[in-house]
Amino acid sequence: MNKLLVSLLLTLGVTGVANAAGNLTGDAAAGQAKTAVCGACHNPDGNSMAPNFPKLAGQGERYLEKQLHDIKSGKRTVLEMTGMLAAFSDQDLADIAAYFSSQKGSVGAADPKLVERGEALFRGGDIDKGLPACTGCHSPNGAGIALAGFPHLGGQHATYVAKQLTDFREGNRTNDGDATTMRTIAAKLSNKDIEALSSYIQGLH
Ligand code: HEC
Ligand code: HEC
Repeated sequence: MNKLLVSLLLTLGVTGVANAAGNLTGDAAAGQAKTAVCGACHNPDGNSMAPNFPKLAGQGERYLEKQLHDIKSGKRTVLEMTGMLAAFSDQDLADIAAYFSSQKGSVGAADPKLVERGEALFRGGDIDKGLPACTGCHSPNGAGIALAGFPHLGGQHATYVAKQLTDFREGNRTNDGDATTMRTIAAKLSNKDIEALSSYIQGLH
């Protein structure tokens, strides 16, 4: 492990433990009944068909719950969802997170031309740039670390992933915490890096 990753993990460890202290209270069955409005974009089972709408199926419950709170409060801007979460209570958001998390996520395909570069960056990072491997937090198969709130990436639409990495890099997505973990990482990625990583992630499982 390189030094950057160690220091990032140490910083995150603190929040990780704090988060893990809060219990997950979602009820998947109750959540399903509250997701009728979500299906148009994310599909009823959370495996969205459109490449700019993220798949939610199989995503970590803790991560989903945090994003729902961030989107509701405006800490993360999702124009397409403006006002949509306003009427939901904390328990509703927990239930919805539990529901989508319990669904099986689908996988896409990587562009064969981009796999080599994408895989090298995902698994090895780039020592010259001080870029840590993504596997340290998102795990080698892209499953993430659910309890720590590190999101599942494997199988996610490349278009959506590329937009997130660009948004982190440009400072348009800023809900990655005081440690600014993903903003720091994305700042080291070129457009070509982002293209290769996103394609690789879409086929990863
Ligand atoms: C009109 C389309 C639309 C509807 C309806 C919609 N969403 Fe979304 N949602 C989006 C888009 C687009 C994004 C990603 C925005 C971006 O690029 O950052 C998103 C992002 C999310 C994310 C973050 C996913 C991640 O991986 O970080 C969650 C969670 C989410 N939506 C849950 C919901 C829930 C729950 C509902 C129903 C209450 C819902 N959405 C309804 C379009 C929609
Ligand atoms: C030190 C831990 C760590 C490392 C290393 C790391 N990430 Fe992340 N990543 C996170 C965390 C934590 C989040 C969730 C931030 C939040 O709560 O919004 C995240 C979020 C993301 C997201 C948004 C997911 C979504 O559904 O919207 C993408 C895409 C992503 N990371 C890609 C990568 C890539 C590619 C790499 C390697 C170049 C990488 N990450 C390295 C911790 C890490």
